[in-house]
Amino acid sequence: MRSSDIRATFLDFFSERDHRVVPSSPLVPSDPTLLLTNAGMNQFKPYFLGETVPEHPRAVSVQKCARTSDIENVGRTTRHATFFEMLGNFSFGDYFKAEAIAWAWELFTRHYNLDPERLWVTVYLDDDEAERLWRRMGVPSSRIQRLGMEDNYWSMGVPGPCGPSSELHYDRGPSFGREGGPAVDGERYQELWNLVFMQNLRGPGKDDYPILGELPSRNIDTGLGLDRLAAILQDVDTVCETDLLSPTFSLVQEMAGRAYPGRDGSDDSTSFRVVTEHARSIAFLIADGVLPSRDGRGYVLRRLMRRAIRHARRLGIDLALPDLTSSVIGALSGTWPELSEHSGLIRQVVTAEEEGFDRTLRQGSRLLDTAISRATSTISGRTAFELHDTYGFPIDLTIDAARSAGLTVDEEAFAELLEAQRRQAHEASRNKKDEAVSRRDLYRRVTAERGRTDFVGYDSHSAETTVLALIAPHGETRAAAAGDEIDVILSRSPFYAESGGQVGDTGELRTSTARARVVDTRLGLDGLHVHTVRVLDGELVPGDAEATVDASRREATARSHSATHVLHAMLRRLLGDHATQRGSRVEPGRLRFDFTHHSPLETTPLQTLVNDYLLDDPSVHVWEASRTEAERAGAIALFGEKYGDTVRIVDIGDASRELCGGTHVGHGSQAGPVHIVSESSIGTGLRRVEALTGADALRHYDHEHRVLTELATLLNVHPDEAPDRLRRHLQTLTETQNQLD
Ligand code: ALA
Repeated sequence: MRSSDIRATFLDFFSERDHRVVPSSPLVPSDPTLLLTNAGMNQFKPYFLGETVPEHPRAVSVQKCARTSDIENVGRTTRHATFFEMLGNFSFGDYFKAEAIAWAWELFTRHYNLDPERLWVTVYLDDDEAERLWRRMGVPSSRIQRLGMEDNYWSMGVPGPCGPSSELHYDRGPSFGREGGPAVDGERYQELWNLVFMQNLRGPGKDDYPILGELPSRNIDTGLGLDRLAAILQDVDTVCETDLLSPTFSLVQEMAGRAYPGRDGSDDSTSFRVVTEHARSIAFLIADGVLPSRDGRGYVLRRLMRRAIRHARRLGIDLALPDLTSSVIGALSGTWPELSEHSGLIRQVVTAEEEGFDRTLRQGSRLLDTAISRATSTISGRTAFELHDTYGFPIDLTIDAARSAGLTVDEEAFAELLEAQRRQAHEASRNKKDEAVSRRDLYRRVTAERGRTDFVGYDSHSAETTVLALIAPHGETRAAAAGDEIDVILSRSPFYAESGGQVGDTGELRTSTARARVVDTRLGLDGLHVHTVRVLDGELVPGDAEATVDASRREATARSHSATHVLHAMLRRLLGDHATQRGSRVEPGRLRFDFTHHSPLETTPLQTLVNDYLLDDPSVHVWEASRTEAERAGAIALFGEKYGDTVRIVDIGDASRELCGGTHVGHGSQAGPVHIVSESSIGTGLRRVEALTGADALRHYDHEHRVLTELATLLNVHPDEAPDRLRRHLQTLTETQNQLD
C-alpha cells in the first residue's frame, strides 16, 4: 500500500466515525514549552487541559513531527527518525479506551490487513482494563505484555497532559532480533501505534515534575508512525526504502557511486540512512521557517545538517544537501505543498550551510593542527570543547586526528565541560518554563472561576466593565496603590490584545476609587485579555470600571494593519506567490513586514503599487466563515498561526483576502499614504520591509520638505534647482582645492 493510501485510509476510517479532519500544525509550535512539534496532540493541548472547549469532540490528523532527543540512534537503528508523519485520532472528553482499542484493532486487521498473529500489545503496569479490552479483540494473553513508565506512559513534555498508554507492535521476524515480544527486542517487535489514555496532569513540583492530578476529562490521544507502517506494508526493512524516501535514498547511492550494503551493521550502511533521513527533516524544518542558528530550533537544524554533511563526506559526496533536499521536495510536495513553495529558500539555506561548514572544518583543522603540534601526549578537554563549541568541529574528528598524530584527547574533561554547558542551558530554560507555567495555571483558575474576556473592541472604543482580578508578579492580589504596575483582568474589554503582529491597545481605566493608565494588552490564554496598567491615583480594587481605548493610537494602528495586508498582496503581485509573510509588526503609524524572497527588491515600484491600490479606495469587508469555506475562497492563512474552526476574514478590495483577527480601517484610502523607509535582508532567503503609514508618513514628507527648503534657501535657488546648484558648487570647490594644491 502506497503511503498516500495509508494516510487516506486512516483519515477516511476516522471521519466515517465522526472525527473532524484537522490539518497538521507547523513544526514550529505556538506552545512556549516546546521547541519543535513532536506529536499530533500538541496543537490540542489546550483542549486536554480544559483551557479551551473544542468545537467538535473528535479529531483526526496527519501531523508533521520532529524529534531529535535520540538523534544518535537515527541511522543506527532502522526505526528511529528525526522527522516523521504521525497519524492520530483524538477524543476530547468523548470516547475512551474501549472505542480507541476496538477501532485500532479493526483498522489494523481489516483495513491495513496486518496479520493478527504478528501483532503484540503492551499495556501500562496496572491497566487491567486495557488488557481485558485487547483480549476481547482476540489478542491472546501470551502476546500482551506489561511495561512501566518508561515505555507505557506518555507525557507531552513536562509540564503538560499525560497518561498511561497501550501500544501495538508488529513482529518483523527473527532476522530483526530475539524472540520474546516488545519487552525484549524493540527492533524486531516494532512499535507502530501508541494509544494514550490522556487523563493526568504533570506540573512543576519541588524537585521534579510529579503527576499533579486528573485532567478535567478523560481523553484519547493516539500516534501511529506513517514511516514504520509503510515499511511493513511495503515489505521493506527501513523507512529509506519506502516510497516516502526511496527516491532520495537512490540518489544518495548514485552520488556516492556505490550501492547501499543492506542492513549489515556497517558504518556505510548507517551513513546511507542518516543522510537520507536527515535530508527530509532539513527540508521540512526550513519550509516551516526554521533557519540555522547557534541556539534553539535553529541549532537543532544546524546539528542535523552537520551530521548529514559528515556522513555524506564519509560516503565521498562533496556537496550533498542541495540535490538531496530537492529530491525530498519532489517526492513529498504533493502531500506537503509548503516544500515546493519554499524550494528556493531550502536550496539556498542548505547550500550556504554546507559551504559554511566546509570553511568551519578548515578553520577548526588549523586550530587542531596547532594544538597537535604543541601537545606532547594529550589534547586538553578545553581545546576539544572549544573546537566543538566555537567551530562546530565534531569530537570524533578531533579524536581521529589526535590518534593519527599518536596523541589522545582528554575525553573526560571534554564530557564534563559539555555537561556543564548542558546543565546551564537546561536550568535557564526550566526556570523560564516554570514561570510561564505557573502564570498559565493562574490564568486558567481565573478563567474557570470568573470566565473569559468579552472583547467588544471591534465595534467600540470604550466599555462599561468589571475588574475581575488583579495580578501582581507574585500572584493574585486584592488591591493596587498609586504608582503600582499590575495586570488586570476585565469582564469585557475594548482593548485589542497583541496578536497576529498587531500591538496591544493602550488607554485608560477608571473606577470609583482609582484611575489607571493601560500601557499594554496581551493574551494570557486564548480569549483572556491581560491588561498591564499603571495606577495613576487612588486605590484600584476589583469592581465596576470604565475602560477607554486611546482612539487615535488605535486608528493609527488600524491604518498600518490594512496597509500591511495591501503590501502583502502587492508583493505577491510583484514577485510571485513565494513571497509569503514570515512575520510582521503592526504599530501605530509604522509597520514591519518579513517575507520570503531571495534577492533585494526595488522599493519604488512596490510603494507605487501599494499607494495606487489604496487610493482607489477599496472597501474593507470583514466576514466570518468556516475554515474550509475560507480556504476555498482563497483566503491567505498566516504561517504558524492557529485558527479555530470559525475564522474571521478581512477583504481589502479584490486583491487582498486574509484570515485575520486584527483591527482595520473602513476604506482603503483611510490608510493614508504608505512610505517605505527600508528594505533589507534579515537572513538567507528572508527580507524585511519597513514602512510609515498615515500621518507618520506625512510627517516624514514634511520633514524632508523642510530639509530641502532649507538647503534651497542656503543655495539661494528654487528647490528644483538645488541639486544642480549644489553639484556645481562642489565641483568648483574641488577645482579650487586642486588649484590651491
Ligand atoms: N502522543 C502520543 C505519542 O506521541 C500518541 O506517542
